[in-house]
Amino acid sequence: MNYYTTPSESARNILIANDRGGYTIPTSGLYPYQWNWDSAVAALGFAEFDINRAWVELETLFSGQWADGMVPHILFHKPDPGYFPGPDVWGGTGPIPSSGIIQPPLAATMARRVLDMDPVSGKERMRALFPKMLAWHRWIKAWRLDDHGAVCTTHPWEAGRDNAPDWDNTMAAIDASDVGEYQRRDTSHVNSADRPTKYDYDRYIKLVNIGREAGWDQAKLLELNPFRVADPTMSFTTLRAARDLLAVSNDLGLEADGLSADIDRLEAGARSLWNEGLGAFDARDAHTGEWAESVSNASYLCWYAGIESARMLERVKTVLTTVPHPIPSYDPHMPKFDERRYWRGPTWAFMNMLTGFGLAEMGHGVEAEALRLKTARLIAGHGFAEYFDPLTGGPAGGNSFTWTAAVWLHWAGRN
Ligand code: DGY
Repeated sequence: MNYYTTPSESARNILIANDRGGYTIPTSGLYPYQWNWDSAVAALGFAEFDINRAWVELETLFSGQWADGMVPHILFHKPDPGYFPGPDVWGGTGPIPSSGIIQPPLAATMARRVLDMDPVSGKERMRALFPKMLAWHRWIKAWRLDDHGAVCTTHPWEAGRDNAPDWDNTMAAIDASDVGEYQRRDTSHVNSADRPTKYDYDRYIKLVNIGREAGWDQAKLLELNPFRVADPTMSFTTLRAARDLLAVSNDLGLEADGLSADIDRLEAGARSLWNEGLGAFDARDAHTGEWAESVSNASYLCWYAGIESARMLERVKTVLTTVPHPIPSYDPHMPKFDERRYWRGPTWAFMNMLTGFGLAEMGHGVEAEALRLKTARLIAGHGFAEYFDPLTGGPAGGNSFTWTAAVWLHWAGRN
């Protein structure tokens, strides 16, 4: 009898343990519902051992799609008092209790990868999902683009990089003095040094209150919402998703009117996020036009979006050789770097995977492989944590984390 559990067995066990029947929670306690981009990554992990379950994950995500095409960032399938802010605070208006914002659209890209793994069984599943994914793309195009065609985030949680320094200036201009008392739940599950501060949380809740009070009416929110930042995460993932939708529509002969033109516009928008002074792709406040001056791990998603950059390639080579556990979510040489605090320094395995996909696809196999092996070593040595200290490799945030397990199965841990 072999008592040793391999990392791949552990990863499968994590996905199975986090499966709540049709959807997967990111980790128990801290995140007890279905999160949009986590779910898309989970599908890749399931596809390695249960391709039907991979499709089910994506289908359940789209079962929460709103009538206008929006796909919420959280679906509250079952009540759980251990999470704040819950369905009542959000007041989502879709078919399933939900939040009122999106997350970076990974679903179309991951669905295409799942399809490629088994085109025969996947074709009909893809045909059924395709119009829903296209409707979501069109919703993003209608409500999230700035004048350049860059995609904006309307809440730090929408870009998925909650407390990234990218938002600091925009957040500083938000008056959250009227949010009142509320009970955070995240810091009762994990170390508060790994999480956003109260200052940030007050502003997160203030922005939720503005959205709920506007009934999530996007036309009204264009006027009311003080937070609108054109961002590399949203811009690169939306562009990539549009490219994948176009490829699928060509392969399967599906209607996708206007998608080629959308891609041109999104590409111009993504390129407009190049901050020459910084020498990196950066976030830009859509109201003020001000750069964030932030080199984040989202800056490295350019290749994932099909955009080449010699300067970013130099940067990635440097990061791979100088940071012990790359890619940090914020440049360690910058003053706001904080190696444990969520998106202000820590390394995220799934962001590495997206960057690795892009590097490999655009002919940078050496860097892609170096990043994959370093990510594999990080997970094998420190466990399936939510994120990792980029200097020591120490695990941070939640543990037994779905997307870290999925990354191991689909990418990092492959021989
Ligand atoms: C949280 O609650 O911390 C999440 O990141 C919101 O999506």
